[in-house]
Amino acid sequence: MIRPASPTDAPAIAEIWNHIIRDTVMTFTTAEKTARGLATAMETQPFFVNEAEGMVTGFATYAQFRPGPGYAFTVEHSIHVADHARGQGMGRALMEVLEDHARGEGMHSMIAGISGENPFGVSFHTALGYAEVARLPQVGQKFGRWHDLVLMQKFL
Ligand SMILES: CC(C)(COP(=O)(O)OP(=O)(O)OC[C@H]1O[C@@H](n2cnc3c(N)ncnc32)[C@H](O)[C@@H]1OP(=O)(O)O)[C@@H](O)C(=O)NCCC(=O)NCCS
Repeated sequence: MIRPASPTDAPAIAEIWNHIIRDTVMTFTTAEKTARGLATAMETQPFFVNEAEGMVTGFATYAQFRPGPGYAFTVEHSIHVADHARGQGMGRALMEVLEDHARGEGMHSMIAGISGENPFGVSFHTALGYAEVARLPQVGQKFGRWHDLVLMQKFL
């Protein structure tokens, strides 16, 4: 079941996200999320979760792509599904709900920023209708090496 997140989901979201932050280059940050920080973010940013048998197994959120009024209608999303729940259609279902929400808010396009070392992230977004619009070489630095960032875009 996909539903809007509430602050009580923040610890479960942090657990899924922090595994990706700590152990992978799918995101370049090394700053782990806190439940308190996520609960605060939920006050201004839409978050949706997938819940299965009472457990949060994935989440998606979006925020303005870059600051300032000139970018008011362009958003960038984050989506992560727990390891054991991948490949079962949850990512697609979460993105459909997220895009519907953004459309309802009058957003014009949605951007995905994907690590160059995450080819499945690229395949996933291609399957959902995103097109690669840029590949920024060596803009990320993690685990002592450079990473490219692939930007993909979908018009809503
Ligand atoms: C990327 C991610 C969100 C996808 O979620 P998911 O629930 O595993 O994906 P789904 O099962 O909904 O698959 C959706 C589409 O992706 C593609 N896909 C699924 N499994 C795939 C695989 N192993 N290889 C290539 N493409 C695949 C399929 O085309 C599928 O399309 P379909 O619905 O027509 O079958 C999830 O795997 C994840 O959290 N990965 C780690 C974090 C990450 O990469 N986040 C995105 C960074 S921007």
